[in-house]
Order: sequence, then C-alpha cells, then structure tokens
Amino acid sequence: MNFDIIEPGIYPELIYPPYKSTVKRGPTRPALRLDARAPVTGNIAATPSLILPHDMDLTAQGDAAPLGEKIVVTGRVLDEDGKPVRNSLLEIWQCNAAGRYRHKKDQHDAPLDPNFNGWGKMLTDDDGRYRFVTIKPGPYPWGNHDKAWRPAHIHFSLFGNVYAQRLVTQMYFPSDPLFDYDPIFQSIPDLAARQRLVSRFSLEQTVSDQMLGYEFDIVLRGRNATPMGL
Ligand SMILES: [Fe+2]
Repeated sequence: MNFDIIEPGIYPELIYPPYKSTVKRGPTRPALRLDARAPVTGNIAATPSLILPHDMDLTAQGDAAPLGEKIVVTGRVLDEDGKPVRNSLLEIWQCNAAGRYRHKKDQHDAPLDPNFNGWGKMLTDDDGRYRFVTIKPGPYPWGNHDKAWRPAHIHFSLFGNVYAQRLVTQMYFPSDPLFDYDPIFQSIPDLAARQRLVSRFSLEQTVSDQMLGYEFDIVLRGRNATPMGL
C-alpha cells in the first residue's frame, strides 16, 4: 500500500486501543518502501473460468436454501477518477443469518447452517460492476470488550492486477444500532469515510418478491476512497 497517496482520516488507525488486537499487531516502525519492481511478479489471471455459477449465489451452494433473509448485493469498483475497474477479482466471506462463521475458530453459541458456507467470488464486468446473492448476515459477539457485538457485515477482498495490490474491507447495512459501539467501525477517523462502508437499500436492485437489494460501490483511491484494511 502506498501510504503517500492516502488521504488522512480515511483508513483505520493501525493501532486503535479500543480495538484490542491492534495494540499487539499494529506496526510501531515506519512503513518500508517496497521495491517498485516487486508488484509486477505473480500476476493474477482473472479469467471467467475461475468463477463457477454458485460462487455468485451463496444461497445455491447447499442441497436446499439456507435459512435467513435472502438479499442481493451489487455495486461498482471505481478508481479515483470514477472510472470502472474491469475484470477485477472480488472475494467475499460472511457469517450466516444466526451470526456464525463456518470456521473452527468460531465457537459462538449459534447454529451452523448446513446449506450455507459463507464465501463467494466474482469478477467485475466492463462497467466495473459486481453482483451476488446471499443471506443477510447476523451480528455476532467477538469478545473485544463487555457486550462487544459486531454490526452485521460482509468482508470483501479485492485483488488488483497482482497479489501485492490486494485490499480488504467490510460492508455494513444501513441504520445498524451497533455502529456507535463497534471499535472496528469507529477506528476510521473520518466520519464521511465511515459512512462509505455502509451499503444503501435499493428498490431498483430489489428483485420482485424474492429479495431486497443493496448497493455498495468501492472506490480504490482518492478523496472518496472506501476505507480499506478492516
Ligand atoms: Fe466478520
């Protein structure tokens, strides 16, 4: 990540004591400057053959429909000039409707759903647009502090042209009452930047009587950049 081009306040504090684990893992020395030639190696071949149909429909990965509220999430990946970022590989992961990840480290006392894995991947189209169908994730406790519950969110990973450009962020849902109490959300200093992590409800993207639609655009750089590193 080139820290020279980051607008102040958009990215989360690397050491933010209310978010406890950042105290141990946050860097205490200045960032190293990478060899400019390094990112040209290990090019990611983002080809359509990487993506299977059920990768973009997380409700179609089991033998039956998963429990919970089916939703569609879509948006555009844009550069700092508002131009579409095409053929970009996005990965997503999330917990199920009850707030449980399919992961051995998640021991939250909530049920797993045999029909929900919670991960997917897709490519952006010529307009920079991505789209996937899923179940609205639930909030979950994470032990950071007393009554620490994460607002419902979906994790996003964006690969650039090469692995060294990978960015990660989280998408939230409108009007979540947990925003004010979540140190991960609060670790982004700039209020407007924080709000850019919140998807917006879209009647246009809502699919008839099947599922509600949410829009979430991702801007990679510049004054309107989406906060990354969450
Ligand atoms: Fe999470």
